[in-house]
Amino acid sequence: MLPLAQPALAEQYGVMPPKAVILFGPPGTGKTSFAKGVASRLEWPFVELFPSRLASSREGGLATSLREAFTDLAELETVILFIDEVEEIASVRSGTAVDPGHGVTNELLKLIPGFRDHDDRLLICATNSIRSLDPAFLRPGRFDYVIPVGPPDPVARTAVWQRYLRPAAADVDLQRLVEASEMFTPADIEFAARKGAQTAFEREVAHGKGTPPSTEDYLQAIAQTRPTLTDQALKDFAEDTEQYVRM
Ligand SMILES: Nc1ncnc2c1ncn2[C@@H]1O[C@H](COP(=O)(O)OP(=O)(O)OP(=O)(O)O)[C@@H](O)[C@H]1O
Ligand SMILES: [Mg+2]
Repeated sequence: MLPLAQPALAEQYGVMPPKAVILFGPPGTGKTSFAKGVASRLEWPFVELFPSRLASSREGGLATSLREAFTDLAELETVILFIDEVEEIASVRSGTAVDPGHGVTNELLKLIPGFRDHDDRLLICATNSIRSLDPAFLRPGRFDYVIPVGPPDPVARTAVWQRYLRPAAADVDLQRLVEASEMFTPADIEFAARKGAQTAFEREVAHGKGTPPSTEDYLQAIAQTRPTLTDQALKDFAEDTEQYVRM
């Protein structure tokens, strides 16, 4: 982000600001949040392109819709363009001309250089499945960085718990919650935190004893929450990190 925030200084030092990056990792680990965080820190407009909402029925199909969306965006002075689930439009080409995904993948490959031509624009793509992307898409020159967004470590889980516990954090043994939520993504923690608070709230409505959400409420909520991460998902992510990361 620094070279984007301070382009003049970056140029002085021969640092090239990134024009396009790709984020990969299991669902709910914070890829979308990361992209929004970059936009908010830079104070650049955030535009999300939804592959599933590109009109495929009209003449020219998906490829034409995609090209038009990029043309519209060219009118913005600065922009973070975010494309989530990019595998929907950039998956491995089967090699047969009839493959309907083929045209749109090619179109995206063609559009990226034009997007890269301008300063003050950053393309952020995200995917849960980097291994299904077309290798041509990932070649250096298109994306400056390929960034893993992995499961939160204990320090990160502590921060996420703190955020979602809000005032309740003071009355709770955070350490135990962090240990009990080992396979949790930030999304899972958010869910469990809400569930724990809800339990305490319902108890208050029923009995009115004025007891705030307790460590036990949250531990119980954790036990009732199915973690997104599995051993297999972690193994795949470690392999992908080995094979694809470029930073
Ligand atoms: N660093 C963080 N701190 C606090 N909450 C977070 C953080 N990262 C993500 N979250 C929360 O976790 C939830 C999921 O995050 P997000 O949507 O960014 O994940 P994702 O990787 O984009 O998921 P998907 O692969 O399903 O698109 C959101 O509700 C978000 O607020
Ligand atoms: Mg997302």
